[in-house]
Amino acid sequence: IRERTLIAVKPDGVQRRLIGQIIQRFEIRGFQLVGLKMLQVSDELLSQHYMSLCKKSFYPSLLHYMTSGPVVAMVWEGNNVVRSSRMLVGNTNPAEAPPGTIRGDFCIHISRNVIHASDSIEMAQKEIALWFQSSELIEWECCD
Ligand code: CMP
Repeated sequence: IRERTLIAVKPDGVQRRLIGQIIQRFEIRGFQLVGLKMLQVSDELLSQHYMSLCKKSFYPSLLHYMTSGPVVAMVWEGNNVVRSSRMLVGNTNPAEAPPGTIRGDFCIHISRNVIHASDSIEMAQKEIALWFQSSELIEWECCD
């Protein structure tokens, strides 16, 4: 089934110049990029994006981290892209993420874990609508 998911390179990933390597992993896997932008994320967007975490003790530091610099937000499309992206990205806690995954290769702290990937098809739809205008998403034909 053709699906879409929201992927975001978090501020630590941008600062550490990992944008290109992260995009490359999605491209070579065969997914199609349909939206891409760099933005300084607002507290308002984050409060909606992380609504389910607002009672957590780490929530204030999560907001501080996510607003510490620009984020690169992307929408990727393809067969089973939601589940496959979670596997490409690896466990939320980098200590549990195997080598070969993005987190398993690029980070060691759960609070600076480089990348976001939607965790279900429903969340992906909500997150894409929150982060992107529909006019920012491009339908284009892949030659393969
Ligand atoms: P992600 O799964 O992309 O979205 C929720 C984020 O909250 C998660 O990545 C981490 O960056 C952060 N997070 C989750 N659990 C913890 C924790 N125990 N301590 C600090 N940050 C956390």
